[in-house]
Amino acid sequence: PKKIILDCDPGHDDAIALLLAHGNPNIELLAVTTVVGNQTLEKVTRNALAVARIANITNVPFAAGSSRPLVRTIEVAPDIHGESGLDGPVLPEPVISLDSRHAIDLIIDTIMSHPPKTITLVPTGGLTNIALAVRKEPRIAERVKEVVLMGGGYHVGNWSAVAEFNIKIDPEAAHIVFNEKWPLTMVGLDLTHQALATPEVIEKIAAVNTQPAQFVLELLEFFGKMYKKAQGFTYPPVHDPCAVAYVINSALIETKRVPVNIELTGTLTLGMTVADFRFPADENCHTQVATKLDHTGFWDLIVDALKRIGEV
Ligand code: BDR
Ligand code: CA
Repeated sequence: PKKIILDCDPGHDDAIALLLAHGNPNIELLAVTTVVGNQTLEKVTRNALAVARIANITNVPFAAGSSRPLVRTIEVAPDIHGESGLDGPVLPEPVISLDSRHAIDLIIDTIMSHPPKTITLVPTGGLTNIALAVRKEPRIAERVKEVVLMGGGYHVGNWSAVAEFNIKIDPEAAHIVFNEKWPLTMVGLDLTHQALATPEVIEKIAAVNTQPAQFVLELLEFFGKMYKKAQGFTYPPVHDPCAVAYVINSALIETKRVPVNIELTGTLTLGMTVADFRFPADENCHTQVATKLDHTGFWDLIVDALKRIGEV
């Protein structure tokens, strides 16, 4: 299986990403770290532990990370994820407790204690923890296998006309992460807006008929309502599990190798992931962007993970 560290801000789609990572046999989840984003650090961390209880994840360290972005003030997303960050289902009291380390130390310790090029970093929130980790221990840049992140969009924005939430809330951190030389795959809005939870998808999840599947249905119901109201979507785009799905089976997602950098000074374009499609990328180009999703294959992975998680 592929070893991953999931750095997240649950978050409805982060919660589903966590369930996919836990339930898929091709993934070995080494650690889960949390970062301020969809809600405050305290709330998203509580949510992560609640999801762990839902799926009976007991043997994976969870650590809390950054409580604010590097430079900017905190921006949360209650219009999409509600006041708790995971509104909709009733959240159980966590049963596991947090690792005593800060997220950036758990990330560093995990990467440095494993053989080189065996761990994939999967960030599905703002990039504050990842940026701080690579600044504290620069050797992780060549030690990880790759970074597969949900964030950005080469032609689409959601937190501004041209910027996506995870990048816009901490653009300086994103700048650090995109400019390290590790292989980086940007699973952005261009891709994740294809990952819609359609009525057929909802039906397949309902047919699993377990408590964790019911939990996902309740998440998607709330998420769908909010996405309709806030952004006019008929069916909600379920972003974060797309990054995990790419790690599980890269054949599900087409990519294109292009240079990508982060706009830090634009008055209208702060946090834009500027991708240069003009030339064939040269061999030193370490970034690629996700372009096309196999919708059925993707949702089948989620359903399969829920079946394997079963009744807990
Ligand atoms: C991203 O922003 C968050 O609200 C979601 O969890 C996802 O990671 C989509 O722009
Ligand atoms: Ca997220």
